[in-house]
Amino acid sequence: MSGVLALREALTLKTQQLYGATYDPGNEITVVASASEGLYASISALVHPGDEVIYFEPSFDSYGPIVQLQGATPIAIKLSPVDFHVDWDEVAATITPRTRMIIINSQHNPSGNAFTVEDINRLTALTRDSKIIVLSDEVYEYVVFDGTLHHSMARYPALAERSVIVSSFGKSYHVTGCVSVSRSCPPS
Ligand SMILES: Cc1ncc(COP(=O)(O)O)c(C=O)c1O
Repeated sequence: MSGVLALREALTLKTQQLYGATYDPGNEITVVASASEGLYASISALVHPGDEVIYFEPSFDSYGPIVQLQGATPIAIKLSPVDFHVDWDEVAATITPRTRMIIINSQHNPSGNAFTVEDINRLTALTRDSKIIVLSDEVYEYVVFDGTLHHSMARYPALAERSVIVSSFGKSYHVTGCVSVSRSCPPS
């Protein structure tokens, strides 16, 4: 199930307008129940036993456990305080022939750090001519301030071709959290 076509077409339009990239609603956009499901589906589809997956700590809590469930090894790289930027030299030193995926998250939960053009350039150079997939958790794509840019992978063809982008209605439309049943709202 890839989601209602009209919604996928609307997401194609949104991606065109915001990031200047045209994705095929027929086979490049999938609607799932949450970003959490999108992360799980992406990792379980693309990561196999024996693979290594690089991600950054601190991070949203599901990345490492999902990788482990595939029989793969999560490799955590510590983000550098005080501004929690990525040390790309350390990433370069951590990549091995087994590296299958790098999980990035900009704007970042929990620090709020946002990628810069320099981050994009380093990521592009490190993954060029490799089999590495970039899983880009972009659930905070709208959380930008002071005229800064959200550097979606969709903006950069060399990264877009190797990336899965995960977005979230929950975050974009402020509908996170659980639905609970209340006595004032009896079941119909
Ligand atoms: C960075 C990050 N990714 C993914 C998610 C999960 O999003 P969703 O609520 O759409 O499953 C969260 C939720 O807090 C998050 O902070």
